[in-house]
Amino acid sequence: MIRPICRMGNPILRKIAADVKIEDISSDSFNQLLSELREAMNHYGGIGIAAPQIGVSKKVCIIELEGFNRYGQDINLPFTVFINPVIEVLDPAEKGYWEGCLSVPGLRGFVERAQNIRVSYLNEKAEKKTLNAEGFLATVVQHELDHLFGKLYIDHIKDPSLISYQEEYDEFILSKDTNE
Ligand code: NI
Repeated sequence: MIRPICRMGNPILRKIAADVKIEDISSDSFNQLLSELREAMNHYGGIGIAAPQIGVSKKVCIIELEGFNRYGQDINLPFTVFINPVIEVLDPAEKGYWEGCLSVPGLRGFVERAQNIRVSYLNEKAEKKTLNAEGFLATVVQHELDHLFGKLYIDHIKDPSLISYQEEYDEFILSKDTNE
């Protein structure tokens, strides 16, 4: 069964999710959660999804970006599970992209974020990992990790005039975006 997506207004999206206990990572119930996250991401067509978005307030999110080209950048991140991730900004210089979110359906918003970050996390085998991410991938990682800390991309929008419905984004913004 595909889990429904929790949408903006659902208080679970505003909670700081609980850390996952290392000993739980090998459990059947945790593996079930990872399967449900992956199924939901594929079903709803996201490039990432976080556990609170399917109603589970735990610090787990997944991202999969393969053969993905955005804003002239080739971005590749094979299916990756981030458990208890911690982010470190390596360079505070920001760049903006139009973000969308399964929990905020039908909308796009322009968000500026740091473009050079490092994430420390556990993977699905409870191994310690670090990932350095730049450019659009850094934005995607920060967007997903925000979900584990009660934040949504709309919180970061500095200019409310840069919020658009998807159809109007496609019609008026995407076609004129020289970065695309
Ligand atoms: Ni999101």
